[in-house]
Amino acid sequence: MKISFAKISVPPQGALVFGVTDNGKLGPEAVKLDKRANGSLSRAMKAASFKGKKEQTLEILAPGGTKLDKVVLVGLGDLKSLSETAAERVGAVVYKSVAKEPSATIVLDVLGGAAAGEGVLAAHIAGGVRIRSYRFDKYRTKEGKDEKPKLKTLVVQCAASASAKTSFASVSAVVDGIFFTRDLISEPANVIYPASFAARTKALAKDGVKVEILGEAAMRKLGMGALLGVGDGSARESQLVVMRWEGAKNKKAPPIAIVGKGVCFDTGGISLKPPSGMWDMKWDMGGAGVVAGLMCALAKRKAKVNVVGLCGLVENMPDGAAQRPGDVVTSMSGQTIEVQNTDAEGRLVLADVLWYAQERFKPKTMIDLATLTGAVIAALSNHYAGLFANDDDLAAQLTAAGQTADERLWRFPMGEEYDKELRSLIADMKNIGGPRAGSITAAQFLQRFVKDTRWAHLDIAGVVWNEKGTVLSDPGSTGFGVRLLNRFIADNCEG
Ligand code: BES
Ligand code: MN
Ligand code: ZN
Repeated sequence: MKISFAKISVPPQGALVFGVTDNGKLGPEAVKLDKRANGSLSRAMKAASFKGKKEQTLEILAPGGTKLDKVVLVGLGDLKSLSETAAERVGAVVYKSVAKEPSATIVLDVLGGAAAGEGVLAAHIAGGVRIRSYRFDKYRTKEGKDEKPKLKTLVVQCAASASAKTSFASVSAVVDGIFFTRDLISEPANVIYPASFAARTKALAKDGVKVEILGEAAMRKLGMGALLGVGDGSARESQLVVMRWEGAKNKKAPPIAIVGKGVCFDTGGISLKPPSGMWDMKWDMGGAGVVAGLMCALAKRKAKVNVVGLCGLVENMPDGAAQRPGDVVTSMSGQTIEVQNTDAEGRLVLADVLWYAQERFKPKTMIDLATLTGAVIAALSNHYAGLFANDDDLAAQLTAAGQTADERLWRFPMGEEYDKELRSLIADMKNIGGPRAGSITAAQFLQRFVKDTRWAHLDIAGVVWNEKGTVLSDPGSTGFGVRLLNRFIADNCEG
């Protein structure tokens, strides 16, 4: 879709969208149109009790006295509380009403005096249209023309069109990142496996990301026995992707490390999962998908920060070479792990990648994302991701970024009493705790591989995939985490 910004000049034909604030009053351009259309806008508003509440829409087809195909009124609510993310949600509902039009014009003649700034809000409304337009339809060969969206050109008109255009550049960079993530997550596991995932990240090189890929031989040399053990039963080679974005003035300044669990398919291994819903485990690489999409967003908006993204990519399969329950593996840190359940594999992958990240990059802050436990879904459903941290300030910064970005986090406790559950009779630890507090014991396991680095772990098992869809996405992958971490970095780590 081609999105452009222009000063207000209402076209006589096609599909028009007008923003309406919550006093229910039309802006000056809409009032003019209403007159030309013999009052059909105001009559429709009255008939539908349309009051301009946030995300409320009203569609008026072929209004009399005009050559227009469609007029859509969209509620912006109270301009004082119209935040950037609220504007994105407005854009998303706009998309739903004009998706079947070849082109549309959004007229924002009511944004003057908005608290967040007219240009910024217009940019985020446009960004919301783009976010909602994502569709993973490459494998649908029989879809009729009328079922497919048609929107190709979108013009956003407002008085501050120049500033809208400028802020749209970075909004759109983040949308590119979200799409990169959604694509990786939506692909089935016969298409996205460790090597093909790694190959896709190479595309980020054109935006200035340095991409390195380590195969099994390199990882064996480094002593990554925990990660490699998970891939033992797979015909696909495990991979470690290291992506570096050096955007700070001092390219040598210690980076922020973002680490992702990339289990491209999780059968559970020999501790095999039940068949129902097992297909879900194609998105068990969601953490790694977010890391790759975040790197894309940061590079495209030329963020002034050094960030290293690391993806531990494996496939957890049961075959004659697979690791067995009870096997003992030696991690890169030297600590030994008794693998009592081969389905608790994400933590084994992260153990080595977290250690490697710290040894090589000495990051000042390290954040990992992982679809780590079913228990976090039991606790929070799909409304929040679980947050675990060894630093209160970092936890507070991430929680705040989650509020602003509308990708919310809820912090869980950690402590000695949970850590004890990982004791093993024959090794330094086992990879599972007891039947309770499964998300916390998983986080305790990870913490055993964190030195004195400021660290946070995000358990995103409940939010990576949404089978009903959200305001911003069709049913399927959400891209949750890209906007959150982009916000966290923009607010706390740049400049
Ligand atoms: N990938 C799963 C966690 C998961 C489950 C993500 C459902 C999304 C939806 C993870 O590898 C796993 O299998 N965890 C086990 C851990 C248990 C064996 C200690 C779990 O949560 O049941
Ligand atoms: Mn598992
Ligand atoms: Zn898993």
